[in-house]
Amino acid sequence: MRSVKKILTDRKGKKYLVKELDDDFHTADGVISKKDLKSKKTEVKSNKGKKFVLLEPNFVDLWEMIKRGPQVVLQKDIGLMMAKTGINGQSKIVDAGGGSGSLCCSLANVSKEVTAYEVQKNLIEVLEYNKNLMGLNNLTIKNKSIYQGIAEKDLDVITLDLAEPWQVIKHAEKSLKLGGFLVVYLPNIIQVKQFVDSLRGSSIRLLEVEELLERKWKVEERILRPEYEMLGHTGFLVFCRKLS
Ligand SMILES: C[S@@+](CC[C@H](N)C(=O)[O-])C[C@H]1O[C@@H](n2cnc3c(N)ncnc32)[C@H](O)[C@@H]1O
Repeated sequence: MRSVKKILTDRKGKKYLVKELDDDFHTADGVISKKDLKSKKTEVKSNKGKKFVLLEPNFVDLWEMIKRGPQVVLQKDIGLMMAKTGINGQSKIVDAGGGSGSLCCSLANVSKEVTAYEVQKNLIEVLEYNKNLMGLNNLTIKNKSIYQGIAEKDLDVITLDLAEPWQVIKHAEKSLKLGGFLVVYLPNIIQVKQFVDSLRGSSIRLLEVEELLERKWKVEERILRPEYEMLGHTGFLVFCRKLS
């Protein structure tokens, strides 16, 4: 069951997560009555007269509000992972390390089942919180090291965001189905080189190494130009496939 029942947003895009419909909700701009929260209205007013839009939560609203521990994988990289591996409602996926759950929750939102491995006990709580926030019943969270092995078999995709992915190659060979993808996210090129070298002699072949840069544009009346700052390097994406 998703722990967030409704989203309240003002005209500037400031958002509030409403977890309880049986109580009045307090915002910085006044109180929204429980009567309004439970109603079918899409526009409500606080007791201070401020207007809010009342929405059913979308995955993106919830993703923006996840509890964060370690550095998360961002949307630009998640999108490319999904596009290059053909993840869909039938896909069985393993993700490690789970971290804050940005990646594994995004994968669970569009796939059949995801198992996330995470070694740090304190992060299991963060992962469970984010799983409940989004109501992702198809996400299983394991407090285990993926370096010790992968119990799940016949996988369509394995995603790795951890320091030594080369330790996982032998396990991925056994757990991926023929034609399944291994996607590795790494911040440093020296790690990419070590990982690619470690693939030699395995049944997993390198497809490509990529980096995606994201630049927003300012589009106003007389101003039409790229923003001065952009989202540059986040990580390298290494796409591989089990082909024998
Ligand atoms: C950068 S974070 C992952 C962030 C995550 N991809 C996200 O989008 O929120 C890396 C995580 O890998 C975990 N980790 C490191 N070694 C691991 C292992 N052998 N098995 C499972 N998790 C591991 C760490 O504890 C850490 O939480």
